[in-house]
Amino acid sequence: MHGTILTLLKRYVQTQYDHSTWLKLTELAGLESVEFDHRTVYPDEHIYALVGHAAEMTGLSAGELHEKFGEYLVPDLMYMYQKLLDPNWKTLDMLEHTELTMHKQVRAEHIDNSPPVLEVNRLGIDELMIDYVSPRRMGGLAVGIVRGVAAYYDEADRIDVMPTTSEDGERVRIHVRRR
Ligand code: HEM
Repeated sequence: MHGTILTLLKRYVQTQYDHSTWLKLTELAGLESVEFDHRTVYPDEHIYALVGHAAEMTGLSAGELHEKFGEYLVPDLMYMYQKLLDPNWKTLDMLEHTELTMHKQVRAEHIDNSPPVLEVNRLGIDELMIDYVSPRRMGGLAVGIVRGVAAYYDEADRIDVMPTTSEDGERVRIHVRRR
């Protein structure tokens, strides 16, 4: 997993909880000696272990935690890849272009980067469907990112996000509609 996601997870835990919670988490995950930086690609097991223990500690499910963290990630991701954003985009346009602009760029930056392939179908001016398929089973993160994008464009109160998750969690279909 991209180091940016892990450094943001660290900051999320430090700001939403506190620094000692982060230390406790890394200890429980057996990662106390790992320094996270945004240039390194880390094994996926690191994020699974951190989120798994964070869920136990907070009493939230891993899915709920992914969702909150996904929302939190958006302003930083937008800032980092701002050159790829068209100033005329709003929530649905940005979601429509994620796969062929932002995620494409992420893949080109490092051979080990593998953001999920998002199949996005624009159903109309105010409606689209995202099909998320990933063996990482981080659909909650995808849902959180969608909510975060709506908040970023100041459309959170008009955007309905309706996810349906497959039983094994590998597929999430997210219906997004603007009222
Ligand atoms: C500015 C827009 C975005 C940027 C810059 C971005 C960037 C990234 C990066 C760097 C990763 C880590 C990839 C890796 O470590 O291999 C990632 C993963 C991910 N992205 Fe995006 N992303 C964006 C928008 C979105 C959107 C709109 C969604 C969902 C609708 C999404 C869903 C995900 C998920 C769920 C993952 C976790 C990995 C997985 O499930 O396989 N991203 N993204």
